[in-house]
Amino acid sequence: VFAAIAQAPEDPILGVTVAYNKDPSPIKLNLGVGAYRTEEGKPLVLNVVRKAEQFLVNDQSRVKEYLPILGLAEFNKLSAKLILGDGCAAIEENRVATAQCLSGTGSLRVGAEFLAKHYHQHTIYIPLPSWGNHLKVFTMAGLSVKTYRYYDPTTRGLNFQGLLEDLGAAPAGAMVLLHACAHNPTGVDPTLEQWEQIRQLIRSKGLLPFFDSAYQGFASGSLDADAQPVRMFVADGGECLVAQSYAKNMGLYGERVGALSIVCKAADVASRVESQLKLVIRPMYSNPPIHGASIAATILKNSDMYDEWKIELKAMADRIISMRKQLFDALSARGTPGDWSHIIKQIGMFTFTGLNSDQVAFMTKEYHIYMTSDGRISMAGLSSKTVPHLADAIHAAVTR
Ligand code: LMR
Repeated sequence: VFAAIAQAPEDPILGVTVAYNKDPSPIKLNLGVGAYRTEEGKPLVLNVVRKAEQFLVNDQSRVKEYLPILGLAEFNKLSAKLILGDGCAAIEENRVATAQCLSGTGSLRVGAEFLAKHYHQHTIYIPLPSWGNHLKVFTMAGLSVKTYRYYDPTTRGLNFQGLLEDLGAAPAGAMVLLHACAHNPTGVDPTLEQWEQIRQLIRSKGLLPFFDSAYQGFASGSLDADAQPVRMFVADGGECLVAQSYAKNMGLYGERVGALSIVCKAADVASRVESQLKLVIRPMYSNPPIHGASIAATILKNSDMYDEWKIELKAMADRIISMRKQLFDALSARGTPGDWSHIIKQIGMFTFTGLNSDQVAFMTKEYHIYMTSDGRISMAGLSSKTVPHLADAIHAAVTR
């Protein structure tokens, strides 16, 4: 009965790792998926995560019972506080409904399913370009996806005018997906002044903001600074949704730890929203897994561990920033044609190089460097040892 099934294409991001794994070359380099690597090119488990795990293992009172449908209550409270900030009025007034979900993707999907069922508008605007999975997550949930201008290839920066025009022309009530910080794939973020203008526009038109916060702490090295855009929207008393991921900032990729928070205008609304989130989640996966959320909650509630986490997080962010500088210097030293200053101007895990898909294919074939075909490279996958190899490849690709 399945004989006629067509072969599906690999995922544009995760498929890069599949191709990389098949390559026997000793010099191969995976700059596809956004996953942090050490200077030695190894995945990193944070010390504080090991500590929290040890703490959990030693606690004999812990059992493996099902979590409630919305997950670990303590984790949810701490997650909302992490993104919305200490003393946030919405939290204090019990206006925030939070559900532990399966990392950022799961949080987006639960939010999208909830909106498809309960929100009067079904159009969501996502930036052009955006993380490749956004389109699929929202479409699969039954929303209709449109784009707003975001990236300007000529300046390799923000097309702020285009963004304002497109959101200004969106129908009242439409949803808007915003990357909280470290925009993926471009590494281009609005300034705080521009965020303020975006906020005023969104509020004046009654659009509904949905933040994807996958890199809190990764853009600037500061958890508070990276949460600033979200906090500006919550401070004005209006509604918004936030999907949080702990994949990058705690390195909990495979544990699938994240949260969806829906900020409402009143406590009774939040409590009804929460009741409906349960109805969305139960038929999808019943309830979320316990281990990763327990690690995150342990770190977030223990002040020593929290401080240690911030130091380790800053070290990851700083290493990425130093990779930007090293790659920029290496291209300058080679006299590679073109302006490469965007490598040091863009922030977060990725550089949107401006290389086209032919150049990317050339670099993969000749230099065994793996990256997404849109020219995005994961700076977190680079090290001092591999910078020269990448610079050689880029130089060859643009001068051939
Ligand atoms: C990425 O963009 O590389 C990450 O967010 C990982 C993923 O799931 O695509």
